[in-house]
Amino acid sequence: MIDREKITPDKIIAMKARGERVPSLTAYDYPITRMLDEAGVPLILVGDSLGMVVLGYPDTTYVTMEDMEHHVRACSRAKPKALLVADMPYGSYANTSSALENARRLMDAGAEAVKAEGGRDIIPQVRAIIEEGIPFLGHLGMLPQHVREEGGYKIKGRVETEVNALLADAKALEQAGAFGIVLELVLAEPAQKITAAVRVPTIGIGSGRGCDGQILVTYDLLGMFPWFKPPFVKQMLRTAELSKEAVAGWMNSVRSGE
Ligand code: KIV
Repeated sequence: MIDREKITPDKIIAMKARGERVPSLTAYDYPITRMLDEAGVPLILVGDSLGMVVLGYPDTTYVTMEDMEHHVRACSRAKPKALLVADMPYGSYANTSSALENARRLMDAGAEAVKAEGGRDIIPQVRAIIEEGIPFLGHLGMLPQHVREEGGYKIKGRVETEVNALLADAKALEQAGAFGIVLELVLAEPAQKITAAVRVPTIGIGSGRGCDGQILVTYDLLGMFPWFKPPFVKQMLRTAELSKEAVAGWMNSVRSGE
């Protein structure tokens, strides 16, 4: 990514039109946001995955608006050129008025766009947010905020009815004005079909290579959370292991009086 101009939602859409992929990563604090931004990542998501990898909860449903605001503020202090997107946490967009109020709170904390999980079921909320001038990123497929009802992280798009529903949801989000759609744990073939059906970029996570972009939890990519490794993650660094080795080396030097 050579363009170090400020990234906007329109620029993310234009990347798809040019056939340019959208590599995206999560951040929850100032140094990681700065590091990803200096590496040229165009889209940084303050994901509610922070519930697991930073706050130690079993899933994302424990994350509150206050948690999100706190971490969005920290990330926004890095003033990234990347587009800074914030996740709307569980229960924060149950109706249009709460969706609008909470989207505004995330923008006030420094987000430049918000993301929420769902398709046709949340279109009134999506429209209200976009009409307010707040850019919106969709999220379809496996919806982590529903993990407890679903009894696990289940792959989507195995049957025709599910594929058709995903296609209808993606088109509805695009029509409502979403600038992109995250596709989580969707089989590669339906993910490709959805990608071809919409003008806005699809950003896959565990959904094959046919999406317009890919997103990962940075802690998974860099091996910072070794206690759970999603099977689709290509880990590029063993940060936790290397850190333990560094700490052990430092402790030895202290013990030996160096
Ligand atoms: O919370 C999150 O990290 C996400 C993923 C898409 C990476 O929503």
